[in-house]
Amino acid sequence: MKICIYYFSGTGNTEIITNLLQKELTNLNADVIVMKIETIIKKKIKVKTEKYDLIGIGYPIHAFNAPKIVYDFVHRLHNDKGKKAFIFRSSGDPFLNGGSTKMLRNQLEKKGFDVFNENLSIMPANVFLQFKDNLNKQLYQLAQIRIKKLAQDIMKRKVFLQKNSIILTIISKLFSFMETTGAKWLGKYMKISDSCIKCFNCVRNCPTGNIVLVGDKNGNEVGDKDDNNIIFDKSCILCMRCIYKCPTNAIHFKYFRFFEIKQGYNIKSIISNPNIKGDYLSNNTKGYFKHYADFFGL
Ligand SMILES: Cc1cc2nc3c(=O)[nH]c(=O)nc-3n(C[C@H](O)[C@H](O)[C@H](O)COP(=O)(O)O)c2cc1C
Ligand code: SF4
Ligand code: SF4
Repeated sequence: MKICIYYFSGTGNTEIITNLLQKELTNLNADVIVMKIETIIKKKIKVKTEKYDLIGIGYPIHAFNAPKIVYDFVHRLHNDKGKKAFIFRSSGDPFLNGGSTKMLRNQLEKKGFDVFNENLSIMPANVFLQFKDNLNKQLYQLAQIRIKKLAQDIMKRKVFLQKNSIILTIISKLFSFMETTGAKWLGKYMKISDSCIKCFNCVRNCPTGNIVLVGDKNGNEVGDKDDNNIIFDKSCILCMRCIYKCPTNAIHFKYFRFFEIKQGYNIKSIISNPNIKGDYLSNNTKGYFKHYADFFGL
């Protein structure tokens, strides 16, 4: 079976899930290709879903919905009537199941896709609060188990569609509208501090081209410019990548800085550290994280 997985990941969680899924599907003898949504959009690559038996779309939850870039990608898809499709999402909290999938499912169905499975992985939150390392490690370990099962379900074409109540859909639309609108504004007013070393990784890696270099690569000015020859446009989708990946921690929101995790976010360093044990959640978990333990049936 030929499968193509298209995914977007701001800070690495969904990428990890995508790689796990690719590995598990390959173990089940599927021929799996993985493509980044941002590359398809930036390079205007023609998406040829007809080459595959199945397609998958993966993304992080942003305000109970998919980030705008995922919708932009779906708008670019051509009609592929009856093509089976699955959706997998990563969120930082099981609350409201990551929001309604109705809006994205509708868009896919308009293009003829037959969405048969929708999955949610709970991964560490990459905004507001830093979770404890042993919780983050455990969420990754639990995701590994759940993705193995998801791969089996996909191969069997098991139908699992989320129930999207009207209220959930309204909440998702409302929060998502506020987040998408706010993102443009927050991303426009980012600040770069003097610790910037002009590596321009942020310019190269912004998925939407929101960070623009004005001048040459040595930082020499050739026109209107902000600090450090870098200016910000109005296409930010609040993916958080530039903030957490800057090698000198030089880039931050000017407003609503509490949105950023102060200590930064680096899931790969937690996964690769053998001294961090995944032993936070259990059937005794009380307080805020109890609903996480319940979600995993611990
Ligand atoms: C702008 C923004 C909004 C978010 N909204 C939600 C949310 O509504 N519910 C939730 O559980 N997690 C939310 N999160 C957390 C992410 O969904 C979660 O950490 C995800 O795994 C990040 O994936 P990534 O590393 O692939 O970007 C949000 C993160 C961002 C950056
Ligand atoms: S990634 Fe950080 S150090 Fe590099 S150019 Fe951007 S702000 Fe400056
Ligand atoms: S400006 Fe930063 S947060 Fe906004 S889309 Fe680009 S990389 Fe993501």
